[in-house]
Amino acid sequence: MIRIVIYFLFSASILHAYDMKHLLRPEYIPAPKNNPITKEKVELGKLLFFDPRLSRDDTISCATCHIPYFYWTDGKSKAIGIKGRKGTRNTPTIINGAYQSLFFWDGRANSLEEQALGPVEAKAEMDLPADEMVEKLKGIKGYAKLFENAFPGVGLTKETVAAAIATFERTVVSKESPFDRWVKGDQDAISDEAKEGFEIFRNEGKCKSCHSGFNFTNDSLNNIALGDDDIGAYVINKNPIWKGSFKTPTLRNVAKTSPYFHDGSVHTLEEAVYICGNGGRYKDLKGRSPFFRDRGLGMEEVRKVVRFLETLTETRPMVEPPEEFPK
Ligand code: HEC
Ligand code: HEC
Repeated sequence: MIRIVIYFLFSASILHAYDMKHLLRPEYIPAPKNNPITKEKVELGKLLFFDPRLSRDDTISCATCHIPYFYWTDGKSKAIGIKGRKGTRNTPTIINGAYQSLFFWDGRANSLEEQALGPVEAKAEMDLPADEMVEKLKGIKGYAKLFENAFPGVGLTKETVAAAIATFERTVVSKESPFDRWVKGDQDAISDEAKEGFEIFRNEGKCKSCHSGFNFTNDSLNNIALGDDDIGAYVINKNPIWKGSFKTPTLRNVAKTSPYFHDGSVHTLEEAVYICGNGGRYKDLKGRSPFFRDRGLGMEEVRKVVRFLETLTETRPMVEPPEEFPK
């Protein structure tokens, strides 16, 4: 009898591990063929990411808004850039960008390389045209050497600035969370409520039809009926079905990255999950994604889903800012 019980428990845990393997981050970090990851590029990219001299008046770096301690967000509803200029959208995390294929809330960039100079040039962010940025960086001797080492024979160009930043960003990946320890078989790593929440997330809630895989996103663009006037993915595709569609964000560390949604309009995870489990803010909104239906989640179920989402928090990212910058 004991043998049978042991056998049953053993095979159940193997089944659990097999069924759930796709929910663990692959160790391998993918990178484009023309921009492989090297130590030199990662180190240079990190300096550039934290260096406020990439902005017009030396006040704003990428890390001003993507703050490591805030899980690479800024805690604000909408981003605030150079000279206090207010942006129109919420700052997303940069975590696990290596595994994604769409960037910005409206999906208008297809790679981290393509994304990287956008914020440098944006008037409400760093406000420095890319050509001026290159000239400015060329005036800093220390950078010339680092670029030559990272990109032998090419040196400092717009493209290599983007390539270095993108390479650093690729190394910003999610580390093990309690959820991952549970997936690996540690039954005590998360609470029973969190386990129930995960079942609701997978089944009744149908959340995984968009928030799938280890990064809890399938990179799809969807209109979830928030009902503001941001046109979203319509900028890249003038078909009306894309109006108000936004990128499905990762849910890794989501308990730590409020406010939520592209407009930063929701401050608690409970409310965000409630909206997602009940067909959006305006259920009758024309244009709502056909995959986004009213799943009728009550407050009790919402609470359990939140308990599950909290298990996706890793210990605080400990990427320390560089101690000094090239002179
Ligand atoms: C003023 C705040 C601010 C600064 C400075 C800033 N960002 Fe962002 N970042 C944002 C906001 C807001 C968005 C979303 C914009 C949108 O969707 O239109 C964003 C989006 C991104 C994304 C896309 C994430 C995703 O999953 O879609 C990446 C990657 C990124 N930023 C990297 C950078 C880099 C690299 C720099 C520096 C060169 C930088 N950011 C500077 C606020 C900022
Ligand atoms: C049809 C695809 C789809 C389904 C199904 C879906 N989501 Fe989402 N989710 C999205 C999109 C798209 C966004 C971003 C929308 C925006 O900001 O306009 C989002 C945003 C979120 C956010 C906010 C994250 C952040 O960083 O701002 C949470 C939390 C969330 N979803 C949880 C859930 C839960 C829980 C379920 C199931 C009850 C669910 N979602 C079902 C597509 C989906």
